[in-house]
Amino acid sequence: MQNISYYHTAFVAYLDDKIQVKEPASLYDPIHYILELGGKRLRPLLTLMTADAFNGDYKHALNAALSIEIFHNFSLIHDDIMDDAPLRRGQPTVHEKWDINTGILSGDAMLIMAYQLFEYYDPNTFQELAKLFSKTALEVCEGQQYDMDFETRDDVSVDEYLRMIEFKTAVLVGAAMKMGAIVAGASKEDQDHVYEFGRLLGVAFQLQDDYLDAFGDPETFGKQVGGDIIENKKTYLFLKALEFSNEDDQLQLQHLFGINPSDATDKIETAKHIFQTSGSADATRQEIENYTKMAFAVLDELSISEDKKDMLKHFGHDLMNRRV
Ligand code: IPE
Ligand code: IPE
Ligand code: MG
Ligand code: MG
Ligand code: MG
Repeated sequence: MQNISYYHTAFVAYLDDKIQVKEPASLYDPIHYILELGGKRLRPLLTLMTADAFNGDYKHALNAALSIEIFHNFSLIHDDIMDDAPLRRGQPTVHEKWDINTGILSGDAMLIMAYQLFEYYDPNTFQELAKLFSKTALEVCEGQQYDMDFETRDDVSVDEYLRMIEFKTAVLVGAAMKMGAIVAGASKEDQDHVYEFGRLLGVAFQLQDDYLDAFGDPETFGKQVGGDIIENKKTYLFLKALEFSNEDDQLQLQHLFGINPSDATDKIETAKHIFQTSGSADATRQEIENYTKMAFAVLDELSISEDKKDMLKHFGHDLMNRRV
């Protein structure tokens, strides 16, 4: 097993080699643009690391890793349209730089490219990867639809929220790891456990994403800080603030998350203030830690060596403390 930056370098070199601009450039330029904007490459790194952890050759997992990263970036292009987001990784989003139609079609092409990469595997592996991918991709759509539906609802529960983020985000992290295990020929039991580890880490990851959306540093976060508040997202921060607040703050929050003012400066300030004073910001940080710990507990079930478990734990700790 190598250190994390080794897998990062290997993955980016593979991606650079594979992702070339062809004609029509208006279809492929945005694909190249989003994939070369960088990002943390969290999911493909997990695919490669998991393949190695189960004594496979990480190189054999590169196409699965690339598939996951292309799918993730496809989902971001469409997500940014749906969330009306201006910034991604510190740069204009695809629909801002080009237009919405470009975002839709380049995104569609990426979804197909993601599937196509499984063709490099033998028929059995192909079938297992494609099956997992289809199930996961459909769940991501379901999660994204719940996320949209919740924007205009005022009775979302914490359980509903947790299920929504499990689908829109966590299952892809689980699938990224399971694909590494499939390619390495790990047992079904190990495949399922590693999926569970990734799923729990993925829930922690989305909670952290929601936290940073409100409290991240605009200089480094790379996305519009306060975007979730502008879009009336019913995040854990919001739901716990409602639960913990006095009646005045509850009414104010309910009101604020039902309006769309043209200048959202005051709305963002007020919401963030209530998130802090109500204790919901603290509760969110606590929940991120809870899910990370639950993920670590699953590691005990895996039949891999202690140093490999430590590596995955290290990765989880870094994620929990991230700023971007
Ligand atoms: C953003 O994912 C979308 C979420 C599921 C929160 P990342 O935070 O992994 O985005 P990049 O790829 O590193 O930019
Ligand atoms: C994104 O959730 C989940 C998917 C892209 C499927 P968010 O909407 O919170 O992601 P960001 O914050 O825009 O990256
Ligand atoms: Mg978004
Ligand atoms: Mg979204
Ligand atoms: Mg977000």
